[in-house]
Amino acid sequence: MRKKIAAGNWKMNKTFEEGQILLSEVVNPNVQVVLCVPFPYLSTFGKMIDTDKVSLGAQNCYPKASGAYTGEVSIPMLKSVGVGHVIIGHSERRQYFNESDAFLAEKVDATLEGGLTPIFCCGETLEQRNEGIHFDFVCGQITNSLFHLSAEDLKKTVIAYEPIWAIGTGVTASNDQAQEMHKVLRDHLASKYGQEVADEISILYGGSVNGANAQELFACPDVDGGLVGGASLKSREFTNIAKSF
Ligand code: 13P
Repeated sequence: MRKKIAAGNWKMNKTFEEGQILLSEVVNPNVQVVLCVPFPYLSTFGKMIDTDKVSLGAQNCYPKASGAYTGEVSIPMLKSVGVGHVIIGHSERRQYFNESDAFLAEKVDATLEGGLTPIFCCGETLEQRNEGIHFDFVCGQITNSLFHLSAEDLKKTVIAYEPIWAIGTGVTASNDQAQEMHKVLRDHLASKYGQEVADEISILYGGSVNGANAQELFACPDVDGGLVGGASLKSREFTNIAKSF
């Protein structure tokens, strides 16, 4: 059975003090909760929480293990402070930092090699959806960054479908739109790895998830949880989302 996951992506929000308060307020329901917080907070937060219950997540990583890469953070570093999950390929990193599918494939490899779980993000722009190329585009992102993996490694990977037009806009994909894309992605995984493997991959939805719409989205058969931005910055809202399975 694939895991149900409620993941929060704080992005570049909250001071250290505000973050500590928010962290202390998040209630842990009976699902896998992942909190992807800013880099500087990971070490302290790793000591504040039981990382067996709530997994600490990073929002990015660099694929090399160590060396002269000023300003970058490696997987062994993240692992050493208790990180369990790493977001890779968020559309904001693709858009603002020009991260390519090939570079993201390297990050996925480094993450898996270090024994951490990649949360690999994919998603189309509104223009691509309007042109009707959204399924091909998103499947292409998966092919380009994940299809070199062994079945065993793919099974350790979480996928997050985040349509760019739904991120931070208050416009959520409809339940039908989310389910449709998640099914297309699962079929795509099955075409390469077989149905049994595809059925084990958690595919999260991200894009304006909140306490009011989470339950219906998570009830879709191929939606296994959410990657939540804005609503993860409010403890009650995020707790409600995590209780929506
Ligand atoms: P919002 O929930 O704020 O739309 O952000 C989604 C997201 O980008 C999570 O990674």
